[in-house]
Amino acid sequence: MKKLTIAIDGPAGAGKSTVAQIAARCLKYTYIDTGAMYRAVTWLAMTRKISPQNSQALTDEVCKVDLKLELVEDKTMVYVDGIDVTEQIRTPEVSRKVAEIAQIPEIREVLILKQREMARLGGVVMDGRDISSCVLPDADVKIFLTASIEERAKRRWQELISTGVNVSLKNITHDIASRDKKDYEREIAPLKQVPDAMLIDTTGLTIEDTVQRILDACKERSGVV
Ligand code: DC
Repeated sequence: MKKLTIAIDGPAGAGKSTVAQIAARCLKYTYIDTGAMYRAVTWLAMTRKISPQNSQALTDEVCKVDLKLELVEDKTMVYVDGIDVTEQIRTPEVSRKVAEIAQIPEIREVLILKQREMARLGGVVMDGRDISSCVLPDADVKIFLTASIEERAKRRWQELISTGVNVSLKNITHDIASRDKKDYEREIAPLKQVPDAMLIDTTGLTIEDTVQRILDACKERSGVV
């Protein structure tokens, strides 16, 4: 039975990681959160005090470290050289800086190679911004997930509040809008919906409804799930 490759792209807060993870669990596939990889590189740049302008030094550092994603009880754990950075990569400081780091061509090159290697054997649900357009252009199922900015900001805010990070909804809305702009407008691998991707607007949809639509798309593609 062929294991599918499923690409899920969309803007921040559209619910990609939540639904991608549940879909992966239902299919017994591996879930890969590529945003976490860009966040880990951002954390690395911040803690080692490497300016994004010094892209060569940062790329060298990224090539040297061991960047690992591991799914533990429904949570993607992220390790850089064995250090657990799972919580630290979700702080507002990293969120504010990550779009800038994600614009560096050499960093994207390194991470894209890693992502393709992770997806080589199929049976993966990978989420990000450029999965359908660039990382896995031959993915079996391509989904573009979005929602209104108000809904996305509210979700991110609730997520942060629940982990004890005290931020205002207004600031989160501003941060998401500015990240959207950078993600959509950057020169390299901008966020976009490819023509053969299925659009799902999750505004007002439940998580279960959204997952079901993805599973239906997989079923249609393979006829075996
Ligand atoms: O999905 P996220 O919010 O954790 O992503 C963090 C940032 O990384 C976001 O600003 C866009 C960038 N990113 C990217 O450029 N390409 C990807 N495949 C995944 C994320």
